[in-house]
Amino acid sequence: MYYSSQYCCSNLSRKLFFYDSEKKYKFLIVRAQDVATYVEYKAADLGIAGLDVLYEHNNDVLELFDLNIGFCTMVVAGKDKNCFAYKNRSVRVATKFVNIAKRHFVSKGINAEIIKLYGSIELAPLLGIADCIVDIVSTGATLKENGLKVIEPIFESTAFIIANKISYYTKYDQINSLLEAVK
Ligand code: PRP
Repeated sequence: MYYSSQYCCSNLSRKLFFYDSEKKYKFLIVRAQDVATYVEYKAADLGIAGLDVLYEHNNDVLELFDLNIGFCTMVVAGKDKNCFAYKNRSVRVATKFVNIAKRHFVSKGINAEIIKLYGSIELAPLLGIADCIVDIVSTGATLKENGLKVIEPIFESTAFIIANKISYYTKYDQINSLLEAVK
């Protein structure tokens, strides 16, 4: 029933699910980006997912409880504030968060070309393939060590317990007693 993201067991098993000692809950091990998809399609009743991932994928799930962990900020970052300066072309934005970046630049009325990358996003402005990036910042060390600055914050993100909409009503008591235990 219960579902976790990257909080994996430390043994070398490749088994992707396990049970608690009372066999009351089944835990699945999946990528953070896939948690809400498994919950939306009811492969899991509950999951733990960051708002960054939820806003990117826009899954049809209930955000039940803010765990107040996994703090980070979604930001636009670049070498300096002039990274948006007029260039006779769209602003090039490198990111893992394509939908968040698109929505952000549309809301600002800025024509942006979104360049999808899968990691090490900070390299893109350094190597000249992007004017800026949209990415999460936690300690700020990665930006700093690569000579980038926060140009503007987009939103704060923390990890939430999320639920499948049908499960929340059909397993209301079970889910709420689990939530109470977490609180
Ligand atoms: C994330 C994010 C930044 C970094 C920020 O990357 O994309 O690169 O963490 O953390 P900091 O502010 O504490 O330095 P992740 O570690 O997931 O690696 P990735 O670049 O391979 O996606």
